Amino acid sequence: MAARLAVIGCGKMGQAIIGGLRDNPDVDVVAVTTRRQHVAERLATELDVNALTDNRVAVAGADVVLLSVKPQIAKQVLQELGPALEGKLLVSICAGVTTAQLHALAPGASIVRAMPNTPSLIREGMTVLTGGPGATDAQLALCESLFASVGRVAVLEEKHFDVVTALSGSGPAFACVILESLADGGVRMGLPRDVAVELAAQTMQGAARLVLQTGRHPAALKDEVTTPAGCTIAGLLTMEDGRIRSILARTIEEAAKVASGLGQ
Ligand SMILES: NC(=O)c1ccc[n+]([C@@H]2O[C@H](COP(=O)([O-])OP(=O)(O)OC[C@H]3O[C@@H](n4cnc5c(N)ncnc54)[C@H](OP(=O)(O)O)[C@@H]3O)[C@@H](O)[C@H]2O)c1
Repeated sequence: MAARLAVIGCGKMGQAIIGGLRDNPDVDVVAVTTRRQHVAERLATELDVNALTDNRVAVAGADVVLLSVKPQIAKQVLQELGPALEGKLLVSICAGVTTAQLHALAPGASIVRAMPNTPSLIREGMTVLTGGPGATDAQLALCESLFASVGRVAVLEEKHFDVVTALSGSGPAFACVILESLADGGVRMGLPRDVAVELAAQTMQGAARLVLQTGRHPAALKDEVTTPAGCTIAGLLTMEDGRIRSILARTIEEAAKVASGLGQ
């Protein structure tokens, strides 16, 4: 039988996730909530779901509760729900909120923590999961199925969640800056903007898929397109002059440091 899912705080991420769940026989979205009535009405029309502004009513009819409000209000929402979460599976995507914090606020629930990202909207997401207090293997497997509907899934220890939040959670923003910069170079050299963006986006997608599908090291794939005395090595050395590797690696380091404080 399909697990009955309620999405508490159906904003950008909540909508991205339920968009991918339509064909998943393991999960039935029974209710979503939002704070404002007019938003609930829009969601009901656009997503064809039971959209409410009362979290308790939504949770009452569910086996699985996906918490996707902003981290700062997670505590308040869980405190208001209180005993309504007893016996449910609570899946939180709130950045920086630990399974220990979730367990303290919802002691009667099984806890799974997840970190998805925005490409979930087009089923190209990357979600990392970790099982918390009370979570069974079957519940973790259900979560894997749920998030596999919107992309790839990995299960990791919770100690990695701050860096995961930085690398794959915030990562789409970093990738877009790189993509935009490559396109700017194309525009500088005379390409129309729309063509430059298409070329940059498809090239980044192609390179990323090549890494994932072949399992080969990115450095080996880079070497294959680097002809001696050619244009690629000229471009690569310019990137190195700009310390691009350490800038990008330190971007993840800094974002992970901030992520570690988000749930406080
Ligand atoms: N965006 C990302 O890239 C990303 C990636 C990974 C994880 N996350 C995590 O996902 C969570 C949601 O982020 P988001 O970007 O989807 O935020 P968002 O678009 O602002 O969505 C938050 C939703 O929560 C609703 N809400 C606020 N107070 C509520 C309450 N008391 N009861 C029920 N619903 C309430 C809001 O409703 P109204 O619109 O009516 O105010 C809104 O629909 C965050 O915890 C974030 O850390 C985000």
